[in-house]
Amino acid sequence: MTTERIRIALQKSGRMADNSMELLIKCGLHVDRSREELFCRIKELPVDLLLIRDDDIPGFVSDGVCDLGIVGENVFAERRAGAKEAFGASILERLNFSHCRLSIAVPENGPISSVADLANKTIATSYPNLLQAFLNENNIQAHKLEMSGSVEVAPRLRIADAICDIVASGATLMANNLRELTTVLKSEALLIRSSAMLSPEKEAVIRRLLARMRGAVMAEDSKYIMLNAPRSAVEKIAKLLPGCDSPTILDLNRGDMVAIHAACKEAVFWETVEKLQAAGATGILVVPIEKMTA
Ligand code: PRP
Ligand code: ZN
Repeated sequence: MTTERIRIALQKSGRMADNSMELLIKCGLHVDRSREELFCRIKELPVDLLLIRDDDIPGFVSDGVCDLGIVGENVFAERRAGAKEAFGASILERLNFSHCRLSIAVPENGPISSVADLANKTIATSYPNLLQAFLNENNIQAHKLEMSGSVEVAPRLRIADAICDIVASGATLMANNLRELTTVLKSEALLIRSSAMLSPEKEAVIRRLLARMRGAVMAEDSKYIMLNAPRSAVEKIAKLLPGCDSPTILDLNRGDMVAIHAACKEAVFWETVEKLQAAGATGILVVPIEKMTA
C-alpha cells in the first residue's frame, strides 16, 4: 500500500526561502538541500517539498498541484486579486515572519504629498492588481506602469511619478530618495492550502503539520523567565510578565523570598526586565523556548 504524500510549495531562493525552510526544520522535518534540488522527499512524514519561484506558489496550490504552500501575503493577495474566478487556495495560518508592507512611495521633495495627488499620475509596480484595488477604493484614476523588478528606479528615470512596491527595512526607499506615502497592504508569511477535497489521510497529515507549525510559531517570541522576588512583590511582578497567565511560585526556604517561573508567550524586552528589577526581582534569567503547545 502506498501512503498518499502531501506536497508543499516553497520559495526556492529569496527573502523568504531560509525562514520557510527553518520553520519546517523546527517542525521536525529533515530537509537535505545540499543538492539544490527542486524536489525534496521528507523521511519523517509523508511530505514532499517543491522548491519554486514565489510568484508560482499561489497558482500551484490553487490548481491543486501542491496541497500546501508557504508564501508572502503580498504575493498571495496579488494573485487572488487578479483571479478571474473564485481562487482555489485559502489562508490556513499566519506564520509571523517575513513581515513587510506594500506601500506607495514618492520622490522625497516632489509635488505629491497626499493620496489625492496621485490622480492622473503614473505609478510603477509589480503589483498591478493590488494597486488597482487600492486606487478603486480611493476613487483615484491613475496610470499603472508594470515592471517585474527594480521598480524603485522608475521615478529617477522619469518613467513614473510614484511607485507601489514592497518595503521591509526601508533601505531601498532611502537609497533612492523616496518616501512612503501610504501603506496598501501589510504582509507576512502565510501557510496556504488548496481548496480541493483531500483524502482523510492527507487531512490528517495536514492537521499534524499545522499543530507543529503553531507550536513553532508560538514558541518563536516566547521565553521562559526565572527570577527571585520578595513574596510581597509577587502580584506586581506577575502583572509585568508578558503573555503569561499563571506563573509558578516556589518557596525558597530563605525568609521572605520566592522564586517565580513563567512561560511568556510574548517577547521579553529589556524594558520589561528593568521594570521587573524595579519591582524587586533579582537573579532574572530569560531563556528561549523551543516548542510550545496551547
Ligand atoms: C523588495 C522590494 C525592494 C526591497 C525592499 O525586493 O522590491 O526592492 O525588497 O526592502 P527594504 O525596504 O528592506 O530595502 P526583493 O528583495 O523582494 O526583490 P525583487 O524586487 O527583485 O522582487
Ligand atoms: Zn525589489
